[in-house]
Amino acid sequence: MRPVEIKKDIFWVGAVDWNSRNFHGYSLSPQGTTYNAFLVKDQQTVLIDTVKHDFRGQFFCALSKALDGRGLDCLVVNHLEPDHAGCLAEVVERFKPKRIFVSPMGEKSLAAHFHPQGWPIEVAPSGTKVSVGRRTLTFVEIRMLHWPDNMLTYIPEDAIAFTSDAFGQNWATSERFADEVDRSTLTRLMAEYYANIVLPYSPVVLKTLDALAGMNLDLDMVCPDHGLIWRGRDEVAFALGKYREFAQQKPKNKAVIVYDTMWRSTEKMALAAAEGLVAEGVGVRVMSLKHNHHSAVMSEVFDAAAVLVGSPTHNNGILPLVADMLTYMKGLRPQGKIGAAFGSFGWSGECVKILAEWLKDIGMELVEPQVKVKHVPDHAAFQQCFDLGRAVGQAVKKKISG
Ligand code: FEO
Repeated sequence: MRPVEIKKDIFWVGAVDWNSRNFHGYSLSPQGTTYNAFLVKDQQTVLIDTVKHDFRGQFFCALSKALDGRGLDCLVVNHLEPDHAGCLAEVVERFKPKRIFVSPMGEKSLAAHFHPQGWPIEVAPSGTKVSVGRRTLTFVEIRMLHWPDNMLTYIPEDAIAFTSDAFGQNWATSERFADEVDRSTLTRLMAEYYANIVLPYSPVVLKTLDALAGMNLDLDMVCPDHGLIWRGRDEVAFALGKYREFAQQKPKNKAVIVYDTMWRSTEKMALAAAEGLVAEGVGVRVMSLKHNHHSAVMSEVFDAAAVLVGSPTHNNGILPLVADMLTYMKGLRPQGKIGAAFGSFGWSGECVKILAEWLKDIGMELVEPQVKVKHVPDHAAFQQCFDLGRAVGQAVKKKISG
């Protein structure tokens, strides 16, 4: 891989993962991803992050070309997750950097991951400044964006920030800058990344954005560790503004109906509820869990005002794909949603009670009554599902106008 000079004497030395489809094993990445790492060449040379170990060939090739015969003086570890620290030990072994900078939480994480012996580690709490020649590295902890150890490295002389996971997207591209690619795709992939990776930490995002605003950093370029780089003040403002919007979780006039079904009774109920929502003028996404991965569902739930969940009763419980979806959704902590439950049953019929408990546990405001149908819905049951859709639709309109 060839390095790309993104500012004078600052190089992208990352790797493009064209084939990534299941990011970290839990979230789809249908358009691949990148692992971004950066080299700053000043009086001292500074490497910021590495890449996933599978991509060590691309990375060391780009790094060696960018170093062009020079050694590596400093290594900055903005994040210890293995998609960024996968080549850390090999970098230390091959290049023997004189200084390794890591956040206070990063020191603990680094010790637990690598059990280092004699590495020249320097803990850099927020506000630490290190001169590397003409430039100054300034470190800012951004805990829980996305692990406790995450930090941001800012270089005021270039008005550039390296932000680890924050402001990234899963998108494998030959382009390196956000202004070179289709904006609507970029924004959608940024939102999908946020919905599936960053969402639980939204309160921290808002605090971090406020803290960064308070620091009054001059920012002309923001370099996340995944996807495209934000170049220019307008682009930086766009990225920061999107994160504020995402973190606020303002719902749209939209509902998601997510379900699994055995003999199609619950599916028919889902479609009848969708008709009720449409009758109220609310946009609907109907998502079968046999056809949609939980991360694709979560990408739609992210900006929806309501979530209607359906499952038949199965062995006194709910179907496994629905349980998987609810577990995933609960972990991502979506805020301020309206919820509703429906499902069919044969004899015991616990499904809707279990679904309602899940939705309440996630913090949703439930619309009643839940609809439960024995075996196959008749006209009266379809009417109940339609009415449930209408009731949820009315609650959505009230919420978004409030
Ligand atoms: Fe891209 Fe939290 O690692």
